[in-house]
Amino acid sequence: MSTVQVNTPGGCYPIHIAAGRLDRLADSIPADATAITIVTNSTVAGYYGKRAEQALAQTGKRLVRIELPDGEAYKDWQTLNLIFDALLQNRLDRRAVLVALGGGVIGDICGFAAATYMRGIRFVQVPTTLLAQVDSSVGGKTAVNHPMGKNMIGAFYQPIAVEVDTDVLNTLPPREVTAGLAEVIKYGMIIDADFFSWCEQNVAALRALDPAALTYAIQRSCELKALVVSQDERESGLRAILNFGHTFGHAIESGLGFGTWLHGEAVGCGMVQAAELSALALGLPTASVERVRALVQATGCPVQAPDLGAERWIDLMQVDKKTEAGQLRFILLPQIGQAVFQPAPVDALRTVLERTAVASL
Ligand code: NAD
Ligand code: GLY
Repeated sequence: MSTVQVNTPGGCYPIHIAAGRLDRLADSIPADATAITIVTNSTVAGYYGKRAEQALAQTGKRLVRIELPDGEAYKDWQTLNLIFDALLQNRLDRRAVLVALGGGVIGDICGFAAATYMRGIRFVQVPTTLLAQVDSSVGGKTAVNHPMGKNMIGAFYQPIAVEVDTDVLNTLPPREVTAGLAEVIKYGMIIDADFFSWCEQNVAALRALDPAALTYAIQRSCELKALVVSQDERESGLRAILNFGHTFGHAIESGLGFGTWLHGEAVGCGMVQAAELSALALGLPTASVERVRALVQATGCPVQAPDLGAERWIDLMQVDKKTEAGQLRFILLPQIGQAVFQPAPVDALRTVLERTAVASL
């Protein structure tokens, strides 16, 4: 088993990464817990609900299971209330522990429930998608969506442990694997050029779910994310670099309608556009842009952005949380392995968006 430690002002905790970790969930439950509530969805429950329950039953503590419907559409206030209803009906007290068993949707909604139930109770993340294992379960961002915007209601609230079982990825649909790989390669692009090269050499093994390659990619991604959030838990500066490609990606998701492209697919394509913008704004060499494009393509993500029309693109990008006083700001790469956060020249942005339109003809 490998362990990555996360240290933030809001909490310090281990990320345990190993095959079969699901059977060891009891290890992460504190001795003084009065009860354990597993929050999961109908799909993940079918695959892993029983095993997680059996593992947690070893603690001898009372177990409650909350099964939510599957899908981003249910990451909302109404579904959050279903969690509170169950916690109150079962009279769970402040020493109860929540266990989020699922992908990023379950992790985000369960984390927000933990942050707010009785003003905050402990929770453990058990991420079951690649995206959740390398990104959403780490760093304490929790949220639900509002009809007017994604992740608009939430809190920074750290789990007490993250338990990553690499075996559960064997049941993940291939498109979800690709979406998770987009976030893996992102870390190489923004902080670690050696990891970027390693991803170039191992992307086929990663798509084939090679256990050794996957374990290393998850561990390195968690180390890099831990490094960033340990320095800037609440995104007052550095943490924004984790959003590389996301300004373009969010515009694709909302422009095409949420769910048409998976979040990771849109981010993958958005990273290619952000690299093109970096070339115009900061002189990122063309050869580096082509390496970014080739690696994104090798993960299985689209690299050709949809033609939404330049004005609509800009409108959609304005909704980004990084926008300040109406000015669009981007994560850009001066070189592979290094990122800066700054406004981009409007003419450079228009050039990138117009190229998208031409390429779509
Ligand atoms: P998801 O949670 O919707 O999971 C994708 C699909 O895979 C779902 O149908 C799910 O039921 C299924 N699934 C999960 N594990 C499985 C398994 N092992 N085998 C088979 N099927 C499985 O999507 P996601 O990509 O994990 O997460 C996306 C969410 O994460 C979004 O809501 C996004 O906003 C959020 N997010 C949060 C952060 C953060 O820092 N908190 C970062 C990135 C994304
Ligand atoms: N996924 C971006 C962040 O955690 O900040």
